Amino acid sequence: MSERKPAVTVIGLGPMGRAMVRVLLAGGHPVTVWNRTASRARAAEAEGATLAADPAEALAASELVILSLTDYRAMYDILGGDGVGDALRGRVVANLSSDTPEQTRRAADWLAERGARFLAGGVMAPEPLVGTDAAYVFYSGPREVFDAHRDTLAAIGRPDYVGADPGRAQLYYQAQLDIFLTSLSAYLHASALLAAEGVTATEFVPWAADNFDGISAYLPEAARCIDSGDHPGEKATSTMMGATAAHILDASRAAGIDLELPTAVKSHYDRAIAAGHGADSWTALVEVIRKG
Ligand SMILES: NC(=O)c1ccc[n+]([C@@H]2O[C@H](COP(=O)([O-])OP(=O)(O)OC[C@H]3O[C@@H](n4cnc5c(N)ncnc54)[C@H](OP(=O)(O)O)[C@@H]3O)[C@@H](O)[C@H]2O)c1
Repeated sequence: MSERKPAVTVIGLGPMGRAMVRVLLAGGHPVTVWNRTASRARAAEAEGATLAADPAEALAASELVILSLTDYRAMYDILGGDGVGDALRGRVVANLSSDTPEQTRRAADWLAERGARFLAGGVMAPEPLVGTDAAYVFYSGPREVFDAHRDTLAAIGRPDYVGADPGRAQLYYQAQLDIFLTSLSAYLHASALLAAEGVTATEFVPWAADNFDGISAYLPEAARCIDSGDHPGEKATSTMMGATAAHILDASRAAGIDLELPTAVKSHYDRAIAAGHGADSWTALVEVIRKG
């Protein structure tokens, strides 16, 4: 006889919540859903989920309640409503919505006051990759709560536990998105620079891909420099790379494209050099960035 999988409630049925419902159903979990906009919930119902009449009924259906909402404000709008409070007692709320670490810490207190346990999560996958080997999710909160639900949560993506502090998962998530969003803007800026001289983004793909693929090779040594505060510049100096940053800014100005990103990058180099890091490695810029 096949083992019965734990029931799961999913509240919030944007693209991400709907993908979670699909993979949980495919994994054999009974899934109950609720969403502010009912039409989205009915689509999940058609795929096999049970539609709850209201948030309290959705909470009552499963010990594990996953939230996939725009932000934590939406959680208060839904779970702070009349008649919902009592239904939170004894539940495990895994909020996989994006917000600041501070907001997740506040949410942990708010839920504890209502008798619920809390896991914060940050989903590191675009919607089409949910449930695949390429997906992982940062979790933080009480270790025993995570361990108890780890197998169920694994349906969404590899669960990576990063600590008891509830803020930690969103800290890791924001750090990853900081790298990701800034890299995407850098790529778009480079594409605009190329386009100004008639080179298409498609033509440049092999070299852009080489660049993205190669950057991770720098990380172990860079991390050692960042953590130790020691930035030996014998391979490449901030002064040399700052000159390149100035060339990119000049070329962007000549191309008539947006200057904000290269201006910000050049400013890091200028300030690091002014602070005496000219002969140090580029990693010394972190000393300027840390000071804000
Ligand atoms: N989409 C992705 O590829 C992706 C990838 C990684 C992480 N994430 C994160 O996953 C979370 C969900 O993403 P998504 O793409 O599904 O976002 P979304 O389209 O913004 O959907 C968010 C859900 O939140 C609900 N919601 C928003 N404000 C609400 C409020 N005040 N009261 C009640 N419900 C409210 C929406 O309800 P309605 O349907 O009624 O509007 C919807 O169900 C976000 O935090 C996002 O940063 C998304």
